[in-house]
Amino acid sequence: MAAHEAQAYKDPGSPEEQSRRTFLANATLGIGGVIGLVIAIPSLVSLIPESLIKPDKSIGGVWAPLSDAEFKQLESRTDNPVKMTFSFQYADGYFPPQPDDQFVWGIKLTPEQVETFQQKRPDLYTPAGKITYPAVVMSFVIFSSICPHLGCRYEWHPEATRFICPCHGSQFGIQGQHLAGPAPRGLDPLPFREKDGKAEVTWIQYKSQEPDRVIVAYS
Ligand code: FES
Repeated sequence: MAAHEAQAYKDPGSPEEQSRRTFLANATLGIGGVIGLVIAIPSLVSLIPESLIKPDKSIGGVWAPLSDAEFKQLESRTDNPVKMTFSFQYADGYFPPQPDDQFVWGIKLTPEQVETFQQKRPDLYTPAGKITYPAVVMSFVIFSSICPHLGCRYEWHPEATRFICPCHGSQFGIQGQHLAGPAPRGLDPLPFREKDGKAEVTWIQYKSQEPDRVIVAYS
């Protein structure tokens, strides 16, 4: 009797029983893993500063800090734009935040350029091209690095004192006004602010090939 019980205990069962046991074991592990993730992800999200992952309702996007060194460079010059790189984290629900590295062009306007900005950029003050935030903040303007023609990255050419896009030759003045080439509008300013001594920007993508400013995505 004892030998029979021992034999029954060792019996691995039919192939169907074995595969059912394997399935149940895997399912248990899988469910345990999902529960672990559900607990862990919000904890990881909570480690990232709120301002980097929660859209600011007034602008729709997320504020990302510029480096102090880059902002100091911008503060000190009015002759040339400054390329400024930054990284932001964006979380969608409970998915882990994803890092995204971008760059923008910062310009410190002279008092005269501040005065003439609206005149140079009438496209930013029409209903179709209007932005919902100030383009000029404390004499600074931050431009998206995306060319409004087809999305290439343009560069500043000091010898020509203008931005030039390498893809199809669109050209823009230092205030972002469209000067030449196929781009349908001037450069797109981005929200900028200084908070607690930190300079911050928000990344917004506008639709290319449109004279109007249509938001495609926020950071
Ligand atoms: S993408 Fe810049 S000119 Fe075409």
